[in-house]
Amino acid sequence: MDLKVLCALSITLIVALSTLAEGIAPPTKCQCKVVPRERTNCGYPGISAAECKRIGCCFNASVPSVPWCYNPKPKKVKKVCPNDPYTRINCGYPGIKPRECTRKGCCFRAHPAGVPWCFYHRVVEEAC
Ligand SMILES: *[C@@H]1O[C@H](CO)[C@@H](O)[C@H](O)[C@H]1NC(C)=O
Repeated sequence: MDLKVLCALSITLIVALSTLAEGIAPPTKCQCKVVPRERTNCGYPGISAAECKRIGCCFNASVPSVPWCYNPKPKKVKKVCPNDPYTRINCGYPGIKPRECTRKGCCFRAHPAGVPWCFYHRVVEEAC
């Protein structure tokens, strides 16, 4: 698969996941990277791995004396202005001023010709 398609797919997936109500979406691997001594209990003692994950918690039984079923970290997201000018989604109108564009919370780049200069940012998950 080409990289652009893959990229668009993962962005779609991230957007879809983040629009789902928090808590319903299962935590990502990233969110479950919690050092053992900082884990806070989720679920109940003796909960199975399957049940733990079903209720939206993380499960890791590799360290004996800490909770195995624990709360995920909050998802860290950041807004980025996409680099590819041809995938821009218009956020303004022709001739919009940079100030008005940024006031709408959008990205402004006055180049190249023929594409929107005021365009929506994307929400991406931060690495952890
Ligand atoms: C479980 O936790 C340990 C200690 O933090 C970690 O080294 C290990 O990779 C984790 N296993 C999984 C499957 O996440």
